[in-house]
Amino acid sequence: MMLEAAKRLLTPSRRSNVPPFIVMDVMAAAALKEAQGARVVHMEVGQPAAPAPRTAIAAAQRALAKGRIGYTESLGIPSLRARIARHYEHTYDLALDPGRVAVTTGSSGGFILAFLALFEPGDRVALANPGYPPYRHILTALGCEPVLIKTGPETRWALSAKVLLDEHRRNALQGVVIASPANPTGTMMEADLLTRLIAVLEAEGIKVISDEIYHGLDYAFAAETAANVSQRALVINSFSKYFCMTGWRIGWMVVPESLVRTIDRLQGNLAISVPTLAQVAAEAAFDGREEMETVKHGYEENRRILTEGLPKAGLDKFLPVDGAFYLYADISRFSDDSLDFAKRMLIEAGVAATPGIDFDPVNGHNFLRFCYAGSAAEMHEAVERIGGWLKC
Ligand SMILES: Cc1ncc(COP(=O)(O)O)c(C=O)c1O
Repeated sequence: MMLEAAKRLLTPSRRSNVPPFIVMDVMAAAALKEAQGARVVHMEVGQPAAPAPRTAIAAAQRALAKGRIGYTESLGIPSLRARIARHYEHTYDLALDPGRVAVTTGSSGGFILAFLALFEPGDRVALANPGYPPYRHILTALGCEPVLIKTGPETRWALSAKVLLDEHRRNALQGVVIASPANPTGTMMEADLLTRLIAVLEAEGIKVISDEIYHGLDYAFAAETAANVSQRALVINSFSKYFCMTGWRIGWMVVPESLVRTIDRLQGNLAISVPTLAQVAAEAAFDGREEMETVKHGYEENRRILTEGLPKAGLDKFLPVDGAFYLYADISRFSDDSLDFAKRMLIEAGVAATPGIDFDPVNGHNFLRFCYAGSAAEMHEAVERIGGWLKC
């Protein structure tokens, strides 16, 4: 009897039962291999190799030297919110009220706020499959139902109005998360498609959340912001990728005017405010765009090396490499077990990549994601190592 009661004290909630990132297994295996003295080319983790802009680091150092780092307003330092609004003017020709900008703890913090603000437990929210796993895991933890929608080449692996409406008619959807450029596919939606999709969804009363974390890293064509298309869409963005600030944990949202106070109340209660030092650095990051454009040109060169080199190495089937810093390769010619393939490629070729099963529970066993945010020399080395390995 006592034992049962004690067990209950330590039983985690059902909704906390979300899967871990499988890539962690690959990372652990890579670390072990490196500890044994072997060389590993890291293409498994989705983050830039470059540091934050020098302007951002200098601003943070100045703030630290001053001493006190206090809380800020829940929605963020007003001058940072105004600077983010100016970024919309400069990048998308959109006059944005800074009052609609909310600073968040990375885009990850933005998702929690957005889902809490928009959805009730039990609400059905559509996501592209393959897609970024935390979308579905955060929704699950909040008691919502992630609805995975199969995507294919006819839409560049993006959600289409037709499949979403078919699903909605079958069983009503309350929301949709769209992402362009997307992770893991690296594919993008063209502006007119995005515009039509949002119009169709909103006409049905389906709430739209647009994850724009990879904006700025678009190579095939320019990415359009949902904020330019609709005043009701909720946009999520971050300093993590274009501005190389993953560890600073800072992002932002563009919130429909009527939801600003809701987000303010939620953030005030959940976090009080976003780390102040990161906010100061983020504001100064906008002055480091030139430096970040050089980093972006490096990704473009890496993209060229991989799209030309991987087919010669034997991996000749991959999705369009439009943006972000990912290439999603079909490995079905070699294996139907992407975890095993990733492990063998790591051990035998010294190249670490992420198995597709992290992103796609249905077909991910046939895919590997390569992150090309490293150096050009690493890309050449990876192509050579994979080529040698696949030919043995
Ligand atoms: C598509 C996508 N959205 C959101 C995130 C979360 O990023 P952060 O919380 O660092 O802004 C990532 C990180 O890899 C991502 O790939």
